[in-house]
Amino acid sequence: MDTSLETRNEPTVDLSPPPPSPPLPTLNAPVTIHADDIERVLISADEIQSKIGEVGARITGDYAGTDLLLIGVLKGAFVFMADLSRRIRLPLEFDFMAVSSYGAATQTSGVVRILKDLEHEIAGRDVLLVEDIIDSGLTLSYLLKNLRTRRPKSLEVCALLKKTGVQQVPLDIRYTCFEIPPEFVVGYGLDYGERFRNLSFVGTLRPEVYGDAVP
Ligand code: PRP
Repeated sequence: MDTSLETRNEPTVDLSPPPPSPPLPTLNAPVTIHADDIERVLISADEIQSKIGEVGARITGDYAGTDLLLIGVLKGAFVFMADLSRRIRLPLEFDFMAVSSYGAATQTSGVVRILKDLEHEIAGRDVLLVEDIIDSGLTLSYLLKNLRTRRPKSLEVCALLKKTGVQQVPLDIRYTCFEIPPEFVVGYGLDYGERFRNLSFVGTLRPEVYGDAVP
């Protein structure tokens, strides 16, 4: 059998980038669903996507030639991590931790529980921890201390949001997308009572939504 490339009738593989997709018709559906609950849009979907493009490009440059592991902090970071990872033009591996700090309330408790640990060993790896929001900073501080004991080669943080002036511990965050006032926010992964995570923007809720649980 002749197996030379010249004579095999291989289909041609087109490696050029696909044409841009049209906007998803359902993208804004959650806005409509929660329209009565939202007080104010703090960061629009377009602003978020544009900033993620910038940060993704920075990360691509900073980690070129490395074997980067992204660790997402569940649940809040899942939306951000999905979009960010697709703007990092490098081979990536993924892992997740699930922690709990807030419970059902809107104020941080300072108590961090690991609900799900990593599946990967991180010793000797370049690790980028992806967080949705830094509030008191207690969750991140705990996670960084915990992960450092596992001896990664490098350990940095990429956060979508950082509340200004409320951190209770000093933190070194390499990539911060947005600094926001210390208000309770929902959307783009962030919840109130497990709802609102699927909003494509970050916004505040009308006070009526909280009922007696004033944030
Ligand atoms: C949020 C957020 C951070 C943490 C930040 O998680 O995702 O992990 O709180 O708060 P801190 O800086 O005051 O510690 P949350 O416990 O609400 O869980 P979730 O991501 O599952 O909603």
